[in-house]
Amino acid sequence: MRVSIFGTGYVGLVTGACFAEVGNDVICVDVNADKIEQLNRGDMPIYEPGLESMVARNRAEGRLQFTTDAQAAVQHGEFQFIAVGTPPDEDGSADLRHVLSVADTIATWMDDERVIVDKSTVPVGTADRVREAVDHRLRERGARVPYAVVSNPEFLKEGAAIDDFMKPERVIVGCDDAVAREKLHSLYAPFNRNHDRLISMDVRSAELTKYAANAMLATKISFMNELANIADRVGADIERVRIGIGADPRIGYHFIYPGAGYGGSCFPKDVQALARTAHDVDYVPQLLQAVEEVNDRQKHYLFNRLREHFGGDLAGRRFALWGLAFKPNTDDMREAASRRLMESLWEAGASVQAFDPKAMDEARRLYGDRPGFTLCDSPEAALEGCDALVILTEWNQFRSPDFDLIRARLNEPVIVDGRNLYEPAPLASRGFYYYAIGRPPVA
Ligand code: UGA
Repeated sequence: MRVSIFGTGYVGLVTGACFAEVGNDVICVDVNADKIEQLNRGDMPIYEPGLESMVARNRAEGRLQFTTDAQAAVQHGEFQFIAVGTPPDEDGSADLRHVLSVADTIATWMDDERVIVDKSTVPVGTADRVREAVDHRLRERGARVPYAVVSNPEFLKEGAAIDDFMKPERVIVGCDDAVAREKLHSLYAPFNRNHDRLISMDVRSAELTKYAANAMLATKISFMNELANIADRVGADIERVRIGIGADPRIGYHFIYPGAGYGGSCFPKDVQALARTAHDVDYVPQLLQAVEEVNDRQKHYLFNRLREHFGGDLAGRRFALWGLAFKPNTDDMREAASRRLMESLWEAGASVQAFDPKAMDEARRLYGDRPGFTLCDSPEAALEGCDALVILTEWNQFRSPDFDLIRARLNEPVIVDGRNLYEPAPLASRGFYYYAIGRPPVA
């Protein structure tokens, strides 16, 4: 089948590569000429395991192309995927400018039947607005071209996106047109394992399903962070509590890890956008507001720990940071807990020596020239001359470090762990002050 994808961000690129991988003829289009040039050189604008080789293979076999030529892309694909960004507006609602401009572009050039698919995370009602934009342009052209608008939200996790796309748990298709639904069904057939993964519904329910999934996951995390804060105060160990509650299959072990607060390009933005949607229809989303507030508070947790340990004054102190990305296996630092912590530390007059296995370029781009910020070549180098080690991302390489070396390199044996990677008792017996999330320190 012929597929065109607007937007070569993380979602568009993964979607394009995976559709090509199963034999479709895919064109990815972007307005950013530099990015298209980069992709045509074989360089990936993002780090995502498995993506680079998949893109290279499919380009070499002629199934995947990158272009800035929107007209050619519209004429190419029977499916027109919209996978452009929906950044938050000032009031937290999703900014649909890019989505609607793609809708307009499609309507400007389409001269044959098209299925227009919203893959971007968009608020309920967006498919109607896409339809309005398309109708408006077709009217202006005096053209009559049949088309359908489908909502097909993505559920990819950064760092595992290729796997998530190739082996989906579900494919949500929101569609009011039976023919278009059948077409989507065929397009996604190669990704069915064991049974049909496609769940079809009306457009609005599909749009809401995307937000509901992310908001539910964010709620689980904020719930656990709240419990961790209570555990701290009552002298309980959240790790034991986590294991204790997860055993109940109604609760389960997924997404109940307390931490330094959730980040990334999705949860913070989507929880806010869903709350905004609720306000717009005169509903006060108390739970969603609390989820966001708890997360904001959690992003100060590590800073507060450091401040308490060092007697309230961090001026002139230097801290080693392990992990800058918002989670492992990505170079993405959007809304990462590391950023809030570093910014608080700089404000308090402290400096930072950081290491991340993948996010160094991104960190350089964001904070390169900042005084008080040094990027180090290895986790060990970051420790040199620091007053404490702070762990912000649970990269595997941090899970089993050489604690003797950590002790020797730090000025003081202090570890503040935002991901609960270690057991408190053995670290205490090695002479460390070990602070984790919701775990009682061992004297
Ligand atoms: C999230 C969803 O998991 C995907 O299903 C969804 O498709 C995606 O958003 C999206 O809307 O595009 P992602 O943002 O890549 O994926 O990352 P997650 O793995 O969900 O992690 C989000 C944040 O939650 C990270 O900062 C992570 O450290 C934190 N987290 C996760 C916790 O603090 N505790 C947990 O138990 C799990």
